[in-house]
Amino acid sequence: MNEHDSERIAGLLRADNYTETDIPKEADLIILNTCSIRQKAEQKVFSMIGRLKKLKHTRPDLKIMLAGCIAQHRGKSIFRRAPSIDYVVGPQNINKIPDIIKNGAGQLLIADNLDLKLLNLPAVRKDSFRAWVNIIYGCNNFCSYCIVPYTRGREVSRPSDDIVNEVAGLVSDGYKEITLLGQNVNSYSDSMSFAGLLKELDKIKGIQRLRFMTSHPKDISDELIFAVRDLGSLCEHIHLPLQSGSTRILNLMNRKYTRDDYMKKIEMIKNTIPGVSITTDIIVGFPGESDQDHKMTIQTIKDIGYDGMYAFKYSPREGTKAATLDDQVDEAIKEDRLDELLVCQDLITENINRRLEGSILEVLVESTDTISGGFMTGRTRNNKIVTIAADQKLEVGSFVDIEITEGYRHNLKGKPAIR
Ligand code: 5AD
Ligand code: SF4
Repeated sequence: MNEHDSERIAGLLRADNYTETDIPKEADLIILNTCSIRQKAEQKVFSMIGRLKKLKHTRPDLKIMLAGCIAQHRGKSIFRRAPSIDYVVGPQNINKIPDIIKNGAGQLLIADNLDLKLLNLPAVRKDSFRAWVNIIYGCNNFCSYCIVPYTRGREVSRPSDDIVNEVAGLVSDGYKEITLLGQNVNSYSDSMSFAGLLKELDKIKGIQRLRFMTSHPKDISDELIFAVRDLGSLCEHIHLPLQSGSTRILNLMNRKYTRDDYMKKIEMIKNTIPGVSITTDIIVGFPGESDQDHKMTIQTIKDIGYDGMYAFKYSPREGTKAATLDDQVDEAIKEDRLDELLVCQDLITENINRRLEGSILEVLVESTDTISGGFMTGRTRNNKIVTIAADQKLEVGSFVDIEITEGYRHNLKGKPAIR
């Protein structure tokens, strides 16, 4: 979401006649579009600001903007903490960035409501073959550890016509893979449900691959699972954050499902969608998490057999309910639990990927940068990264059938299939 916001900020500024540079020394304006999901992201930004301050000494006319969730969260205290910052703009008002710059330094814009004008901003996209498209902004869920509902505000669905138009435009511009974005795509509701929107998008002539993230387990519907099975463009991959395998901890996290509810959804997904891959997010060391709770998480990931996992140490975020809980877990224990989880998941992924050896899969080529070891990379429909040994150069953005020769922990290896 944050990266796509950056693409849209770039789109706005380009429309206002700015040009982009990768060299900070050359810039008249530097925008740091920030994430505050965990403490580490925040620390990195403030050390970056420290480095940019030096640049400002040699270039006093340089302007620096702090945008995104840290801007929204920390507000005007940023001007005191980092006087080299000229503008502070939250994620719900990025459409006003060109005006703010014109109004001169010292501007603060962290309104609590989404400015509806930002629903349809132009974007300068990083890639020429895959694109992100927002469908719903904000979050109403208030998981007790999470800062997002405070920084991105309440849910606002984008009108379905606008989404269909944007996707149709991207397809006719040659984009091969579209990822629909939202904190909770299942809450999408305009004149149609999320599954209804997917059906409309699948009808677009020439659409090849459609993905979405992220789904909340409490809201994922049978209708959506059937849509993934039945709609030709919809890729067979579901990212379904579990967060913890202990119902007690899920309760404290305010996730609104139990381990059993979650297992039933997984069973339904696996029984319905052939070849589906399922990935997840896990937080270790949530306040009060005991060894027993942690063991239940390990057992649950073994029972489910995820294709992949993003695991994080719990990071207290000021202003959230969980940050006020007494029994915070020791950092060293969090480290140990994270290591154990990652080692366990690596083995599971490796086993699943090994079973794919010998199969032929459709791969969208993402990079032909053969400098590092002579391999190109691409992605399967179910979102597995494939490194490809090929004699002739394959084109970025093209589809190739790849015979999988080896399955590893973090990727598959293959070669163009001879049919
Ligand atoms: N600490 C650690 N991980 C977090 N996430 C969200 N908030 C926190 C936090 N305070 C993780 C969740 C979520 C993912 C995007 O980031 O696992 O699914
Ligand atoms: Fe955060 Fe929960 Fe909303 Fe996801 S669903 S953004 S974890 S509050």
